[in-house]
Amino acid sequence: MTRVRVARWDALAEGVGRPVVAAGRRLALFRVGDEVFALGDRCSHAEASLAEGEAAAGTVECPRHGATFDLHTGAALTFPATRAVPVYPAEVVDGEVFVVFREEAS
Ligand code: FES
Repeated sequence: MTRVRVARWDALAEGVGRPVVAAGRRLALFRVGDEVFALGDRCSHAEASLAEGEAAAGTVECPRHGATFDLHTGAALTFPATRAVPVYPAEVVDGEVFVVFREEAS
């Protein structure tokens, strides 16, 4: 398991995506309320950047065609997306945002 620091908490704006690269993966970070979420930054429909979407009420909306995904599970909630996107555990420690990867970082 690898824990990678990806951002400062206070640098994330409410509901606004932040693209980052960690452990060789493109991620989309979202701050919603007092929670932080890390999803794979590629929509499962046609590969748009989810970091360019808006997050609210537990979901993020893809900016290209409007599919929505659950921030907790990555499940596709609305068409045109039908497949989930990966979700990685994220946490805030001492003002820093960390993402946890189960396998070793590359
Ligand atoms: S690319 Fe995301 S819904 Fe089409």
